[in-house]
Amino acid sequence: MNNDRRRFLKTSLLGGAAVVGGCTIDVSTEPEENVEPWRPLRILILGGTGFIGPHMVREALRRGHEVSLFNRGRTNNEMFPDLELLVGDRNNGLEALEGGSWDVVVDNSGYVPRHVDDSARLLAPIVSHYLYISTISVYGDFSKPIDEDTALGTMEDETVEEVTGESYGPMKALCEKRVLSQVGGDRTTILRPTYICGPGDRTDRYTYWPVRTMRGGEMLWPGTPEDEIQIIDVRDLANFTVDCLEQKIIGTFNTVTPAGSFKMGDLLEDSLAVTAADLMPTWVDTDFITAQDVGAEGGLPIWESPAGEAAGLAKVDGSRAAAAGLRNRPTRETARDTISWWKTLPLERTEKLRAGLGVEKEADMLQKWHEKNA
Ligand SMILES: NC(=O)c1ccc[n+]([C@@H]2O[C@H](COP(=O)([O-])OP(=O)(O)OC[C@H]3O[C@@H](n4cnc5c(N)ncnc54)[C@H](OP(=O)(O)O)[C@@H]3O)[C@@H](O)[C@H]2O)c1
Repeated sequence: MNNDRRRFLKTSLLGGAAVVGGCTIDVSTEPEENVEPWRPLRILILGGTGFIGPHMVREALRRGHEVSLFNRGRTNNEMFPDLELLVGDRNNGLEALEGGSWDVVVDNSGYVPRHVDDSARLLAPIVSHYLYISTISVYGDFSKPIDEDTALGTMEDETVEEVTGESYGPMKALCEKRVLSQVGGDRTTILRPTYICGPGDRTDRYTYWPVRTMRGGEMLWPGTPEDEIQIIDVRDLANFTVDCLEQKIIGTFNTVTPAGSFKMGDLLEDSLAVTAADLMPTWVDTDFITAQDVGAEGGLPIWESPAGEAAGLAKVDGSRAAAAGLRNRPTRETARDTISWWKTLPLERTEKLRAGLGVEKEADMLQKWHEKNA
């Protein structure tokens, strides 16, 4: 992801930069008279009309910046009629970007290293800051707690372009490398979000919990109320993204709720509080769940077995981003706004959640659980 050098404060690499846990933050102390008059950033967003992009666009506009969008014109085309839309394809179709002029670029839609390499090469001489949205899936080992220095995943054949559950993380790790080599570490910001959630999420991985709660009745909850989980509210990610652009915050950051701050029991309480549902939660132990083969992606999204191979996904250190200014809103607000958004959606979207246990699967598991404990 790219950021701009022209900002609120007159800054330069000489002007004042502090290294906080491996990231660079402007702390210019130049006298007031040397401060450049504020002017909006000209921000190019690659992929501004999906889920996370629109939140970033709105936040940037709210703060007075100018935004151009680059995408194929297939997704939510009518969303920002007043913005410049450059139509093109990251796969060999970047012509619309040629000759453009921006201060910074936010790259939301980079999954294929070749595509990211192409856009970073083209934009490196044009912008002064590249901000790349990566993912915590880049890491190579999820069994232990993770910080930004944890080794990244690799793939044998680096030319693979098909995004699968297996290739997604290592491909994103390669994309990061491509940006760094084309743009340079002094002009690149890499954000690694965990499960992004909140209004507009198309995966329903977080949404499942409050929405299923709203239906009421007996509900299966995996593990224990003490099991840790992590999310990032899309609005907090958007705010931090624009902070990075404005303040030229450089470096690599996990963007998550603070490790240990959010547990399955909190998710249940949040879900109950925002739905006022008549719910009977049944906590089903981890061994039973594991034997049923329904882990995070198989029907119990976001939750991970605390002793399993992916336990580290719930123990990601976010302190570097917090020190750089990332603020996480109360998770109850995320639950409240997710439910409010959900209620605005048409029936064809809400009649079946895209993640979580289906009605029959859940009933079947609960029955087996009760039989086991009878
Ligand atoms: N969802 C999560 O929980 C999660 C967690 C961690 C990281 N992430 C990261 O967050 C980003 C995903 O954000 P998202 O869900 O908002 O977006 P997305 O669905 O991946 O991308 C959608 C945007 O990209 C554009 N786009 C897609 N393919 C394109 C192409 N070939 N050429 C040009 N534009 C293209 C789309 O517009 P058109 O269709 O009109 O082209 C749209 O504006 C990814 O980088 C992902 O790795 C997501």
